[in-house]
Amino acid sequence: MARRAQLGQSLPPMNTLRFNLNGQWIEESGLAPTTTLLRYLRDVRGLTGTKEGCAEGDCGACSVAVVENGPDGAPAYRAVNACLLLLPMVQGKHVVTVEALKQGEAYHPAQQAMAAALGSQCGYCTPGIVMSLFEATYRKDLKQPWQLDDQLCGNLCRCTGYRPIRDAATAVAGTCPKDAFVAALPASRPTSMAFHREDEGQLFVTPTTFDELWAVLDEHPDARFVVGGTDLSLEITKRFQVPPRLISLEGLSELHTLREGATHLLGSGATLSELEDFSAARLPPVHRMLRYFAARQIKHRGTVGGNLCTASPIGDLPPVLISLGATAVLRSRRGERRLALEDFFTGYRKTALEPKEVLIGVEVPALPPTTRAAAYKVSKRRELDISAVSAGMLVEVSAANVVTRARLAFGGMAATTKRAAHAEAALLGQAWTEAAVELAAKAMANDFTPMSDHRGSAPYRSLVAANLLRGFFDETSVTPQPRLAPGHAATVLTHEEVRHD
Ligand SMILES: Cc1cc2nc3c(=O)[nH]c(=O)nc-3n(C[C@H](O)[C@H](O)[C@H](O)COP(=O)(O)OP(=O)(O)OC[C@H]3O[C@@H](n4cnc5c(N)ncnc54)[C@H](O)[C@@H]3O)c2cc1C
Ligand code: FES
Ligand code: FES
Repeated sequence: MARRAQLGQSLPPMNTLRFNLNGQWIEESGLAPTTTLLRYLRDVRGLTGTKEGCAEGDCGACSVAVVENGPDGAPAYRAVNACLLLLPMVQGKHVVTVEALKQGEAYHPAQQAMAAALGSQCGYCTPGIVMSLFEATYRKDLKQPWQLDDQLCGNLCRCTGYRPIRDAATAVAGTCPKDAFVAALPASRPTSMAFHREDEGQLFVTPTTFDELWAVLDEHPDARFVVGGTDLSLEITKRFQVPPRLISLEGLSELHTLREGATHLLGSGATLSELEDFSAARLPPVHRMLRYFAARQIKHRGTVGGNLCTASPIGDLPPVLISLGATAVLRSRRGERRLALEDFFTGYRKTALEPKEVLIGVEVPALPPTTRAAAYKVSKRRELDISAVSAGMLVEVSAANVVTRARLAFGGMAATTKRAAHAEAALLGQAWTEAAVELAAKAMANDFTPMSDHRGSAPYRSLVAANLLRGFFDETSVTPQPRLAPGHAATVLTHEEVRHD
C-alpha cells in the first residue's frame, strides 16, 4: 500500500480493473474478474472484429495484441488468445484489437498484405490472422522460414488455404515500419498488475509481493493459483466452472526470472516463448521441444510453472527437463525446499506441492558440449497438437565410449512422466553402440505399461518409445551435437537433416 501511496492519488482502488484498450485507459469496477477479454470486447465494448471460434485457444480467431516486455527488455506487441485471458490478466497493460489497426484512411501493412495476397474468403479467421501478422510485422527476430510457420500455426483458416496467408506473412514479417504503433511502444510498457477483488463469493487477487501472497493464502488456503490461464481458463470457457477463489502469480516479478549460470534458473512465471528464446543457445533440447509446443499465442501466455504444476502425463516440458536433471524449487511461508523434478510428480495430475506452497522455478544444470541430449514429441499432427508420446534423453559417454550417465524420461507412457529405469540400467557401463541401445530398447518393455486411447494404442506407444531411443542413438552418434535444423519437419531428425554448428 505504501508503494501505491508513493505513486500518487491517480491510481484507482485495487479492486478496479484498469487497462489500456486501443489507446484509451479503461476502468471497470463492476465486472466479474473471471470475465474473459473476448467477452468483454464483444459484449461490453462492441468490438466484434475479435471473433470467437473455439473458446479454447486452438483457432486464433480471437487473437489480439498485448504489449509485454520483449526478450531485450523493450516493450513489444504479442499476439494472444483473448478467449483465455481473464480481465485481471491485462491489468496495467496495453491491448490492441483489429479495430485500431487502420490509421486514418490507411490500412495497416498486415491488412494490406492480406488483401494483396487474396488471403481472405469468408473472413471469419481474418481478424485473428491479421493480429498474428501485426505481431510479425514488428518482430526483429524473424529470420528463418520455419519461424513463419511457428508465427501462424495458432490461426486456423477453413476456406482460403494457407499459401496466400503465408505469402502475406512473408511480405510483412519483420518489416518494422516506423509508424504510430512503434512510436507508442515506449509509453506502453506494462505497469503494476496489482488487483484484489472479493465480492459475491468470488475472490481474485494478484499480489505483487510474497508477503501479500502469504497473507492471502493464510486467509484463503484453498484458493487456486493461475498464471497464464492456458490450462485453467478452459475450466471457465469450456466446462463453465468458475473457481471461486483465484490467486494470480503473474504480478510476482521474481517468478519471471530466466537466469543463466552453471545451473540455469527457469522461473515458474517465465512464459514458454521467453523460455524458447532463452533456451535456443543454452538448452537446445528444451528449445526443440518448444518449437512443437502449442502455438505462439499460447506460448506467450503459458508458463513453465503452469506446465509443470498441471502434472499432465502428456505435458511437454516434464520429460525434457527431467532428462536434463532439473530440480524443482518450492517456496512457502516456512521457507524453500528442493526436489528432483521426477519426485515433484507424485501421481496422475498430482504434485508434491503442499497447501500454501508455490513452485518458484526449476534449476537445470548447464549442458556441457560433450553431453548427448535431445527431446522428441510424437503427435498426430505436427503443429498445435498434444503428444501421444514424448521423451527427453541424455547420455554422457566417456573417452573410451562407455556410458557413464543415462537419463531417459518419457511422457504419455504412464500416469506421470517417468524415467525408463530398466533401459537406463541396461545402458550404464556399456559401450555406446547400436547393440547396447538395442538391449536397452528391449529392457524398456519392463519400464512401462502404457494405456490405449484415441492418441495411440498401448503397443504403438511402446514401439514408438523404443524407436525414439534408437533414433536418439542415431542422431547423437555424430559430433558436434545436432541443433534444430531450420527447415526440419519433425523432432526426430535423420542424419541428413542434422545441422552442425
Ligand atoms: C490450445 C492449447 C494448446 C496447448 N498445447 C500444449 C502442448 O503442446 N504441450 C503442453 O505440454 N501443453 C500444452 N497446452 C497446455 C498449457 O498451455 C501449458 O500447460 C502451459 O504451460 C500452462 O501454463 P499456464 O501459465 O497457462 O497455466 P495456468 O492455466 O495458469 O495454470 C495451470 C495450473 O498450474 C498451477 N500453477 C501454475 N503456476 C504455478 C506455480 N508457480 N505454483 C503452483 N501452482 C502453479 C495452477 O494453479 C493451475 O492449476 C496447451 C493449451 C492450449 C489451450
Ligand atoms: S476463440 Fe479459438 S483461440 Fe480463442
Ligand atoms: S477465410 Fe474463411 S475461415 Fe479463413
